[in-house]
Amino acid sequence: MKLISVAIDGPSAAGKSTIAKIVATKLSLTYIDTGAMYRAFTWYVLEKNIDPNNEVDCTSVIPNVHIHLNKDGKVFCNKIDVTKEIRGLEVTKHVSAVSSYRAIRLALVELQREMAKKDSVIMDGRDIGTYVLPSADVKIFLVASVETRAIRRYKENIEKGIECDLEFIKKDIERRDKFDSSRSFAPLKQAEDAILLDTSDLNIEQVVERVIAIIEKKVK
Ligand code: DC
Repeated sequence: MKLISVAIDGPSAAGKSTIAKIVATKLSLTYIDTGAMYRAFTWYVLEKNIDPNNEVDCTSVIPNVHIHLNKDGKVFCNKIDVTKEIRGLEVTKHVSAVSSYRAIRLALVELQREMAKKDSVIMDGRDIGTYVLPSADVKIFLVASVETRAIRRYKENIEKGIECDLEFIKKDIERRDKFDSSRSFAPLKQAEDAILLDTSDLNIEQVVERVIAIIEKKVK
């Protein structure tokens, strides 16, 4: 059977992972959260007391970092379960810098492409439709206003028991939007053939419904 690939890109906290997870379950696709992979790398950098703003030091540890995502959505770095730690403030603060380093991106992109060769996938990130899987069968670019995204991320963190502040989240989303879209290598950008979906005024069920309709129309 032919494997299919669905790319979901968009800015931070646009709802990509929530939507991708539900759609993955409904359509029996493997969900790959590429942001979690950059976060796990950033966690390792901080754990080893490496300066996240020093590209040479960060990239020098690439051979020591082994990231694995399991089918239950758990994230492992060198066999340590870091699923919760990678959502904390420190990782969130430094992940844009660490994920802007070309060598780190190339290493993680290779892993992402390998995963897409084994299963039918729904992969979310910033550069999936433009760089990681340019031939993806379906490409969706999810956006929402900064205000909506900040409130959603705040509620999500509170539910997970992660301490946070709404104003900080809003500022952080704006900062990451700017950083992720302006980096030189594989920036956050809508692919020419991606379908734009603004989720500001939609609830989760409505977005899931639309995404499934787009996938079913494209992959008949
Ligand atoms: O989706 P997220 O917030 O967990 O992503 C964390 C960071 O990783 C985000 O600030 C940008 C970066 N990222 C990236 O550069 N490319 C991807 N494919 C996924 C995430």
